Amino acid sequence: MEVIKETAEMQALAAELIKEGKSIGFVPTMGYLHEGHLSLLQQARQQNDKVILSIFVNPLQFGPDEDLDAYPRDEQRDLTIAEENGVDIVFLPVEETMYPHPLSLKLSVVNRADVLCGRSRPGHFDGVVTILAKLFNLCRPDRVYFGMKDAQQVAVVDALIEDFNFPVELKSVSTVREKDGLAKSSRNVNLSALEREEAPFIQQALQKGRMLAEEGENDIDVIVKETMKFIESKTHGKIDYVELLSYPELEPVDKIDRQVILAAAVQFQHARLIDNVVFDET
Ligand code: PAJ
Repeated sequence: MEVIKETAEMQALAAELIKEGKSIGFVPTMGYLHEGHLSLLQQARQQNDKVILSIFVNPLQFGPDEDLDAYPRDEQRDLTIAEENGVDIVFLPVEETMYPHPLSLKLSVVNRADVLCGRSRPGHFDGVVTILAKLFNLCRPDRVYFGMKDAQQVAVVDALIEDFNFPVELKSVSTVREKDGLAKSSRNVNLSALEREEAPFIQQALQKGRMLAEEGENDIDVIVKETMKFIESKTHGKIDYVELLSYPELEPVDKIDRQVILAAAVQFQHARLIDNVVFDET
């Protein structure tokens, strides 16, 4: 496994692989790898000749009051896990490498970003698409792998690829969960013992909301309110949002007559957790 820290070296290696006719699967992450990430790597391994994993905690996508410093990091452990999971190349830049000087231009997401996490994290998705545009140009993948745990991110990346004609195929991968249903996340280590017990109720609440819809409830407000009520009754977390929107367009709907997402974000003391269910007209 090769570990690359410099952008020029990454780009040269990608160019070499392309010249050799190798297909490249790319999994961008912020590290502190868990089974969610591994599921993306596994698919990438199956579908490509070479797998590139990037690990970079991107400051541009964190707001001033967010958990950039508290974001968990463990480079050595990540490299061991990467090696064990068949990664060919790890791209591991430092901040000065990715952002050697202030950027002269800005990417700004104008659709799909003013709802869900985008509403409470202004600028977050601008930071995500900026780093991804850079990473796509450095790693030059044929296929990129993203988890549905961050369903809004998948929708935004879909728009990035489409709008800017990146010659890349987007692959979305189902959310990997703990036994009790909690979506695996690098942030879960920041939950207290009690919060950890309460956190699985977020997914249970979303499933309840989905069931209501399946049982014929067509009033979006009722579904959202019942989902909120369940989270409030079962956790001490503060609900940031519960929303039901079309997916992947992320537009308001007044009835469930197409694919939709029911998503929630809950702020615990030291971790903000998100989860969702995507479902179709029933
Ligand atoms: P990060 O939070 O490290 O996630 C990297 C990838 O792993 C994302 O595509 C995310 O959706 C996926 N993932 C996380 N938890 C998962 C789970 N439980 N099941 C399935 N997939 C899961 O998302 C980012 O990093 C960053 O925004 C990034 C895209 C790297 C840009 O900086």
